[in-house]
Amino acid sequence: MAYYQCAMMEIETKFNVLNEEFSLQYDRNPISNIKTRLKKPLSIRDKLLRQGLPVTLSTMVEGLQDVAGVRVVCAFQSDVYLLAEALLKQDDITLISRKDYIENPKPNGYRSLHLIVAVPIFLAHEKRMMKVEIQLRTIAMDSWASLEHQLCYKKSVDFNEAMAAELLYCAGLSRELDLRMDSLRNLVQNEAVSAELWANAPTLP
Ligand code: GTP
Ligand code: MG
Repeated sequence: MAYYQCAMMEIETKFNVLNEEFSLQYDRNPISNIKTRLKKPLSIRDKLLRQGLPVTLSTMVEGLQDVAGVRVVCAFQSDVYLLAEALLKQDDITLISRKDYIENPKPNGYRSLHLIVAVPIFLAHEKRMMKVEIQLRTIAMDSWASLEHQLCYKKSVDFNEAMAAELLYCAGLSRELDLRMDSLRNLVQNEAVSAELWANAPTLP
């Protein structure tokens, strides 16, 4: 678990560095917040058993992709892709799988970009490749997912069709919000560029 913890720290640092560089260059932060979590031993055991695997160290290392998880919440939808590409370009990162639930949302409306990557951690006498699950999403996607999680994990309540339809509708609203805010960001950015061009334009005689 300590190795997974180190791998998560590596990934978190990589995102913090990208955020820092971006904020120096463009004067705004693409990352709103980053959360990390290690899967609990009991959840690891349950997941292995669900998959019909024996509960051993090697089945965990080989069979589970999400022992270490990093969630990156971004300001805008375009930032999600920008950060994902910037990370995957780094030569010590190996992409294992990519699921784009923004392009193809889950049937319940869930959206996020999921990456499973391998990142090396350098120990005193060896280098180890560790797998990390990365979820990149916007603030709107994160708020929908947190609320959906709260609603659906109240097992005492039967989640009926009308409730599911309402949740899907809300996912549509959150998608609309992201698209509109991204367009607005584009407008503001173009305004800023043209204002700068005007400011630096040679004055007419
Ligand atoms: P798991 O066995 O749950 O890890 O699913 P998977 O291996 O098929 O991977 P997937 O990419 O579908 O989902 C992995 C993680 O994404 C989950 O553990 C959640 O954190 C998140 N996630 C996926 N679907 C949903 C969803 O419908 N609602 C919410 N709130 N989170 C989701
Ligand atoms: Mg999982």
